[in-house]
Amino acid sequence: MLDIRHLSVSYAGDRPALSDFSLHMERGEVVALVGESGSGKTTAVRTVLGLLPPGGTVEGGRVTFEGHSLLGLSHKEWGRLRGKELSMIFQDSGAMLNPIRTVGSQFREYIRAHSVLSRQEAAELSGQMLARMGLPNPESILASYPFQLSGGQRQRVGIAMAMTFQPRLLLADEPTSALDVTTQAQIVRQLLELRDTYHTAVLLVTHNLAVAAYMADHIVVMRGGRITDQGDREHLLRSEEPYTRQLLRAVPDLGGARYV
Ligand SMILES: Nc1ncnc2c1ncn2[C@@H]1O[C@H](COP(=O)(O)OP(=O)(O)O)[C@@H](O)[C@H]1O
Ligand SMILES: [Mg+2]
Repeated sequence: MLDIRHLSVSYAGDRPALSDFSLHMERGEVVALVGESGSGKTTAVRTVLGLLPPGGTVEGGRVTFEGHSLLGLSHKEWGRLRGKELSMIFQDSGAMLNPIRTVGSQFREYIRAHSVLSRQEAAELSGQMLARMGLPNPESILASYPFQLSGGQRQRVGIAMAMTFQPRLLLADEPTSALDVTTQAQIVRQLLELRDTYHTAVLLVTHNLAVAAYMADHIVVMRGGRITDQGDREHLLRSEEPYTRQLLRAVPDLGGARYV
């Protein structure tokens, strides 16, 4: 489904932020990218989505999704893909919401921008999606302004929006890092449920190896823009790679009980 080969990306002449990065994902698979800050995780995810910040340049390699190259798509082509086939959630989904408009009006607008649904249908769908994310009172959430919601509620709104069109691939960049441990655990479980319901593949960026080990079928360890180790949970736990061992030591309870 997603195939990344030998991808290299740099920012304005700096040393590459991503070097020779290759990754393959199948439908419904959960892959985690882990590594310290600056290791190139966000760059990888943004390249896949065609959302590199100014100065970011793909120096080489290719990215194909369902057999089609994602590099060099036009604005219009991205418009057809983003939100529908591939979607993304960020560390703080609240940041992408307009603070002076209600959640509901923005959710409806998002739905209508990506579909031919009527205002009424969009309103119903937004409520259904919030309920599916385990938000107990969708109508009151929709009537709220972003600042009136907790971080966990805003993150669920972001995930609900991202999942509206049942994308094949969800890119999740540190989706739980800003949340308390209990809320993190709930959201991680909900992401796994969504994967089971919709068979959406999830590319999860996290610096938390416990979250990665709990969620992911395949874990990719990155450092300095390069992949230093990868494999399933058991591989990672037994890995002899010094940097993987270092990350493992930094996790107090890899059993995951603290997080999940
Ligand atoms: N907009 C940018 N302009 C210049 N350099 C950037 C930009 N974004 C990231 N970088 C650099 O690219 C490298 C990888 O960053 P990033 O992909 O954000 O890593 P991570 O998400 O793992 O923290 C870092 O050295 C960072 O300083
Ligand atoms: Mg990042």
